[in-house]
Amino acid sequence: MSKRIAVLVSGGGTNLQALIDAQGRGELVNGRISAVISSTPDAFALERAKNAGIPGYVLPRRDFSDSRGYTAALTRLLRETVGADLVVMAGFMTILTEELFQAYPNAVINIHPSLIPSFCGVGCYGLHVHEKALEYGVKISGATVHFVTEECDAGPIILQKAAEVLPGDTPEVLQRRIMEQCEWKLLPQAVSLFCQDRLKVEGRAVRILDCL
Ligand code: GRF
Repeated sequence: MSKRIAVLVSGGGTNLQALIDAQGRGELVNGRISAVISSTPDAFALERAKNAGIPGYVLPRRDFSDSRGYTAALTRLLRETVGADLVVMAGFMTILTEELFQAYPNAVINIHPSLIPSFCGVGCYGLHVHEKALEYGVKISGATVHFVTEECDAGPIILQKAAEVLPGDTPEVLQRRIMEQCEWKLLPQAVSLFCQDRLKVEGRAVRILDCL
């Protein structure tokens, strides 16, 4: 029985597109993207879902007074309507509280555009990540896929991939390189490994089991 994957989005959805394309190539082994849920009504990611025939839902953050109320509604949608086995945060920009991670222990994953623990944590998202990396003067950066826990960007790391920082890079150029070389490769890999039950969390470490 293949696992039902729900993808949470807020913006352009290039990581969602990478998952859709990987699914089309048969690379999401034992998994199926069953829903796309956006926290913003105008996210282009919803267009991508529609074009791929994937049910899209909008749960506007602005309809809720606080993160806890939003998270409760989202968790209900995921469990009762979607029946999700895996929740993937792909360019999702809304703060969630621990109820989601308690409902989905080690079954919520996130893609972050740096080599965690560098350039991560509260307020460090999207283009800010690359601005900080350039400001610091690092020679490599990259992306990380990790399990999501209540502490921002601090869950057990599943996969990482590095990319060079080149002279003259702007935050936008670096972001694009990391998306192309790292994010869009790592996320489908991590989702497929999860759906094959090949990720074993041992404390802070995640062991990747050989094919069962
Ligand atoms: C990407 O940099 C991703 O790493 C971050 O959000 C940005 C936009 O992602 N989480 P997407 O194009 O909406 O997938």
